[in-house]
Amino acid sequence: MIERMALVKYSRLAHERGLTAAFGGNLSMRRGNLVFIKATGAVMDEMTAGQVAVITLDGRQVSGVRPSSEYRLHLAIYRGRPDVRAVAHLHPPYSIAASSLLEDELPIVTPEAGIYLGRIPIAPFMPAGTEELAETTVAEMGDCDAVLMARHGLVTVGRSLREAFYKAELVEESAKLWYMSMTRR
Ligand code: 13P
Repeated sequence: MIERMALVKYSRLAHERGLTAAFGGNLSMRRGNLVFIKATGAVMDEMTAGQVAVITLDGRQVSGVRPSSEYRLHLAIYRGRPDVRAVAHLHPPYSIAASSLLEDELPIVTPEAGIYLGRIPIAPFMPAGTEELAETTVAEMGDCDAVLMARHGLVTVGRSLREAFYKAELVEESAKLWYMSMTRR
């Protein structure tokens, strides 16, 4: 199935590119009323097609495997943004550093980030896997395609998983460039 293959491909790539480490991160894709999402506890660079869970938009588990503990976050985004077909939640180091040093938003450094992301707001810290984290992150993201979650990571969205993935890479590059330019001052 195309969703499972894409989730395996981009999960492994996210780990290889340093966009997440250890047990962190989860990706998902929406098709109609169904959401395909990494199984909870699966490590992204060891991901297999059997570690993709399937849930409905209202949170009912369809597959044998249990969905990521961040399924509330993914579902809240899909419910509020019908344009979104894929969500990436990752833990890249510069993004996390920037989210703990900054408030409000990550400055846009390059024209590319301006074109593809516009704004990168920062949501306040909430415990992982909670409804509060889902609500706060969605509210802070609004119509943007990226948001940082304080001391936790990032979320990006797209009309495809490829788009969400590259937007995540662009957020991490933006955070790295901001950090490099800040330490020179
Ligand atoms: P899951 O293994 O449940 O997806 O948790 C990973 C994570 O990043 C929680 O924020």
